[in-house]
Amino acid sequence: MTATKGLEGIVATTSSISSIIDGVLTYRGYNIDDLASNASFEEVVYLLWYGKLPTKSELASLEQQLSDAASIPAQLIEQMKSYPNDTNSMAALRSAVSALALYDPAANDMSQEANVRKAIKLQAQLPTIVAALSRIRSGLEPIAPKAGVSIAHNFLYMLTGEEPNEVSVKALDKALVLHADHELNASTFAARVTVATLSDIYSGVTSAIGALKGPLHGGANEAVMVMLEEIGSYDRVEDYIQDKLNNKEKIMGFGHRVYKNGDPRAKHLQQMSKELSRMKGNMELYNMSVRIEEMVTGQKGLKPNVDFYSASVYTILGIPRELFTPVFAISRTSGWTAHILEQYENNRLIRPRAEYTGQTGQKYIPIEMR
Ligand code: ACO
Repeated sequence: MTATKGLEGIVATTSSISSIIDGVLTYRGYNIDDLASNASFEEVVYLLWYGKLPTKSELASLEQQLSDAASIPAQLIEQMKSYPNDTNSMAALRSAVSALALYDPAANDMSQEANVRKAIKLQAQLPTIVAALSRIRSGLEPIAPKAGVSIAHNFLYMLTGEEPNEVSVKALDKALVLHADHELNASTFAARVTVATLSDIYSGVTSAIGALKGPLHGGANEAVMVMLEEIGSYDRVEDYIQDKLNNKEKIMGFGHRVYKNGDPRAKHLQQMSKELSRMKGNMELYNMSVRIEEMVTGQKGLKPNVDFYSASVYTILGIPRELFTPVFAISRTSGWTAHILEQYENNRLIRPRAEYTGQTGQKYIPIEMR
């Protein structure tokens, strides 16, 4: 038995949800470029769960169900108020999502219908939780979700208490579409491993949030912003990045396990970053990002991934840095839950082997003789 470090190149399951073939990402066979330009996030959620694009009435019905399920239990809000204010936001989100199960009487109902209902609940409630966590952290009261608006609209509304403008809603909606699913990425794999023991969907999504938190995965978008803030201005990019490259340090937001010729989602986020910066009349963050890309791609051949330009996009949208990865989680809940439902449909325990590299033939020595 020989181990492959990081399971690189290992095909661990079959799935009909999303694919990366020759660098092209599709959800259920639809190219991500097509979906990013045309579909709403809710349409994509439907597509991922049900395997087809919705009709108008199917979409309206899903939107209604999501809207009906968006409020979170009052006990959970009280519990969130007890979290320390300086807690890592993904740790807080992980705890809150885990606690959601405590208030759902159907948490352990493993029927297909109950699991679909819980997927809807999770997708509907994640934005409410993330917005509430942010407001509580700022000493403000959480705002209840409003009916009849999209997830992107509702999230920005619950975050600020103000009606968001259409450009911001559209931009966030597109970012949600782009982050919704991504084949067998680390957090999705974590979710599938968890539920393959026939554990419940809340446990699966909680595991996934734990995996997404890390800076090599979803946590990279926040790390990119930390870097941009550390650099501070365009004229300091050159020295800062050259220093990192000389010291062989990782530059967050670059590289990918699967894509070697570029992440197909990055160009959409770059375009959004450019357009939003133009509209705001401040190109600094965008120009800094482009210069970083020129240097990292030029010297290391590494291309930006989905996380790189999402940092400037979210900042321009007024989303605080510590919410970048939670916003990723809001979107990826659609993919996680689609994969969890697919895993339940044709389940087998996921239990690989390890190549043993420790000592062998050891003889027990009584403690007083060691
Ligand atoms: N900056 C500098 N060098 C890098 C970077 C980077 N961002 N990414 C990879 N490299 C280098 C490594 O140092 C290594 O060089 P070496 O062979 O000389 O030691 C080589 O490229 C291979 O890197 P690995 O880390 O082994 O590649 P792997 O496929 O395991 O990792 C990963 C992929 C984790 C995404 C990596 O590129 C990375 O750490 N990137 C920065 C973090 C990041 O942006 N993560 C988000 C990924 S997208 C997502 O999850 C949503």
